[in-house]
Amino acid sequence: MKIVVIQGPNLNMLGIREQNVYGPMKLEDIHGQMKSYAEKNKLEIEFFQSNLEGEIVDRIQECIGDADGIIINPAAYTHTSIAIRDAISAVQLPTLEVHLSNIHQREEFRHKSLTAPVCAGQIVGMGPFGYHLAMVGMTQILNEVAAMKQHQAKAQAAAQAKA
Ligand code: DQA
Repeated sequence: MKIVVIQGPNLNMLGIREQNVYGPMKLEDIHGQMKSYAEKNKLEIEFFQSNLEGEIVDRIQECIGDADGIIINPAAYTHTSIAIRDAISAVQLPTLEVHLSNIHQREEFRHKSLTAPVCAGQIVGMGPFGYHLAMVGMTQILNEVAAMKQHQAKAQAAAQAKA
């Protein structure tokens, strides 16, 4: 099982940008924690960060046939990007949206997420721990999907044996 983690614009500046909002932790340290969770749980994980909308759209599209789930923080594009929303919707993979800050508590323009309605869930306001919660949530989703597929395969085999 493979999870792709996609990080939007300015998240490469974590640890430098607005520490009062986003905290002192660097993106590479957040990714380090996610990687060790993945290793412990026998999951494959890949990380991608871009400041460019089109590159994020491309990376989401590349997940088809490559990934089982996506964890994404679209950052400022959350509030503006129909293109990223459409890409998430197009690939039909379980997707969790993460925001370090509580976007609902901040400026009004951050309250609306264009991407959340096409995601399985949204985690906000938990700082870097939100990414850990997303890993736990995604593991649960992937286990449920695998169990459902196994159940369907069994039911199909039983139906074929009867015919
Ligand atoms: C953010 C919230 C966005 O509104 C903002 O543009 C970001 C970071 C967060 O993780 O809290 O860049 O996605």
